[in-house]
Amino acid sequence: MRIPFNRPFASGKELDYIQEAISNMHISGDGPFTKKCQELLESLLAVPDVLLTTSCTHGLELSALLLNIRPGDEVIIPSFTFVSTVNAFVLRGAEPVFIDIRPDTLNMDESLLESLVTPRTRAIVPVHYAGIGCEMDPILEIAKQHGISVVEDNAHGLFGKYKGKYLGTFGCLAVQSFHETKNFTCGEGGALIINDPQFVERAEIIREKGANRSRFFRGQIDKYTWVDVGSSYLPSDLLAAYLYAQLESRELIQARRKRIWEYYYENLHEWAQERDIRLPIVPEHCDQSYHMFYLLLTTLKQRQDMIVRLNRQSINTVFHYLPLHLSEMGRRFGKPGDCPVTERVSDRLLRLPFYNDLTESEQSRVVAAIMDVE
Ligand SMILES: Cc1ncc(COP(=O)(O)O)c(C=O)c1O
Repeated sequence: MRIPFNRPFASGKELDYIQEAISNMHISGDGPFTKKCQELLESLLAVPDVLLTTSCTHGLELSALLLNIRPGDEVIIPSFTFVSTVNAFVLRGAEPVFIDIRPDTLNMDESLLESLVTPRTRAIVPVHYAGIGCEMDPILEIAKQHGISVVEDNAHGLFGKYKGKYLGTFGCLAVQSFHETKNFTCGEGGALIINDPQFVERAEIIREKGANRSRFFRGQIDKYTWVDVGSSYLPSDLLAAYLYAQLESRELIQARRKRIWEYYYENLHEWAQERDIRLPIVPEHCDQSYHMFYLLLTTLKQRQDMIVRLNRQSINTVFHYLPLHLSEMGRRFGKPGDCPVTERVSDRLLRLPFYNDLTESEQSRVVAAIMDVE
């Protein structure tokens, strides 16, 4: 039996809730399940406002629109991230300034930030890689000194914490992903977390085609009209119904993922240490979200060989981000050597199968196969 890299998970109530959404006669956006998801996230994270979006990508695009990012602006973004983190700002004409990562957590190296800030810097976008928090204290301090906005890309990190505070609650804005590969999913989906209340009203408008429809549906105005730029970033209530079942099962899901992460760690760390292979590092002051488990192998060849040999044993493993500054598009903004840690890490990182119903016997097969091929 093949062990896939990811397998979508249903906690049990998804179909009932989708049926309920159909019975509610409201399957477009902003229906009862969208509101339930938003209210639940607002209360758990203790934030002023959460808006579900069609993806994390769209949450990022909404953030760039809210910050009025314009041609000529610079945005500091790790090269070691998904294309959407940077595309959202490039779409508005901004120039990404790629920052390297720390060798331990693979998060933005905050010690480099100050040297990259210019009078044109408008935003800093920390990505909490693998749901392990970036060093938010110094990042926020530098942002404050220079009057720069912080948008957290928390695609991996829902319910992770930095110094006891939830990831996604530090920047003026933050984004979540509910893509199939994430801890909580509805297939494709996301959320914008609004920590600075000045953005709430405009975010609703941009998300609703640039019209003040949300105010109209709340009965606050008697007709709605076009008031701003906008797009359609609200998901169907059918998706929100699926997501609500997942969010309700958050304790079960997180407990399972914690067990999976710890199994890998306990069974691989001695073997890895003896071979100079690195496992994820979680600083004391971070509570991770248990989003993924990876090995940092010693060479590109060792990583590629391992992918092939595990595949022969019906185990799917995958690499992760290719450095954005070396990509075809990214070379317009950066060049080889700009982010040396990113360049070294990207070649060697291998993600292991990780999904909510991965069993211990499947995991022991993965572990045995890794030790066998090395
Ligand atoms: C760091 C990061 N940001 C953004 C995204 C985009 O998420 P979505 O597929 O929900 O648009 C991803 C996707 O995996 C990601 O890893």
